[in-house]
Amino acid sequence: MADLDQNTVTDAVIAQMASTPDPRLREVMESLVRHLHAFAREVKLTPAEWLGAIAFLTKVGQTCTPIRQEFILLSDTLGLSRLVNLMDDKANRVGDATETSLLGPFYREASPRFGYGESIATHAKGPEMVIFGQVLNEAGEGVPNAIVEVWQTDADGAYDLQANDPDVMDMRGQFRTDAEGRYAIRTLIPLGYSIPMDGPVGDLIRQQARHGFRPAHIHMLIGAEGYRELVTALYLGDDDHIDSDTVFGVSESLIVRPQPGVEGSPDPGVPSVRYDFRIARRAPHDTSGRVGADPSKIAAE
Ligand code: BEZ
Ligand code: FE
Repeated sequence: MADLDQNTVTDAVIAQMASTPDPRLREVMESLVRHLHAFAREVKLTPAEWLGAIAFLTKVGQTCTPIRQEFILLSDTLGLSRLVNLMDDKANRVGDATETSLLGPFYREASPRFGYGESIATHAKGPEMVIFGQVLNEAGEGVPNAIVEVWQTDADGAYDLQANDPDVMDMRGQFRTDAEGRYAIRTLIPLGYSIPMDGPVGDLIRQQARHGFRPAHIHMLIGAEGYRELVTALYLGDDDHIDSDTVFGVSESLIVRPQPGVEGSPDPGVPSVRYDFRIARRAPHDTSGRVGADPSKIAAE
């Protein structure tokens, strides 16, 4: 057996893992080992630093609960969630389908149903806005009976799950498009908010002197029979953090600026945004999984 040095140890590990029957697992693990070892050599990682990193990752795991996923938060703040979604969009996004954005940890299933133009603010108070438009297919035709799910912070920057009584659902709901694919939602102008900063990811963000904020946004999840589910969000362009989102979720095409007097708004006196979402037909290989909180776990709470 040859003595290993700091370069040959990499090949020795890869040679031992070459027996992996699953070709994709073999490919992913081989690349992971190559990159991990190269990283350790590049930064000249010391044993104390590696033990510190293991303690950090242990704490990340210990911070996870059925409704808090600190590993996803770590992935989000490292830009890895966005990278994975960007690659998936590039491979699978059809035509000019609306760009995707992060699901985030605050999605809940079985939110209340509302009719065209009704307000999702059943408890919270604050300045109002309206979002309306159509859900369109690749041919630009309205998609009837699509489900438009929406969730957001209130005017103080808090989700209902963070409020005193998380059993009460507020600032979220489900709408159905009409025969022409139209939807209209009355809501409050959301406020940007800080990602959860009381765990190990928050400690790291502070050590990096990052602000930890997400710009104000409204999450949207759009689904229709036979179409690929769209997970996206609309971002308010006037937010101070629009160019420095801590989780890198913003795309230019998703930025909106509510204004009064928008033609076609169900209430043109209220600042409104017209936004048409484009969804693509579901392909046989499509999976519904996206990098975000596990909604089934939150719903089960
Ligand atoms: C959110 O948009 O709600 C969110 C996304 C990623 C991390 C934290 C929050
Ligand atoms: Fe959010």
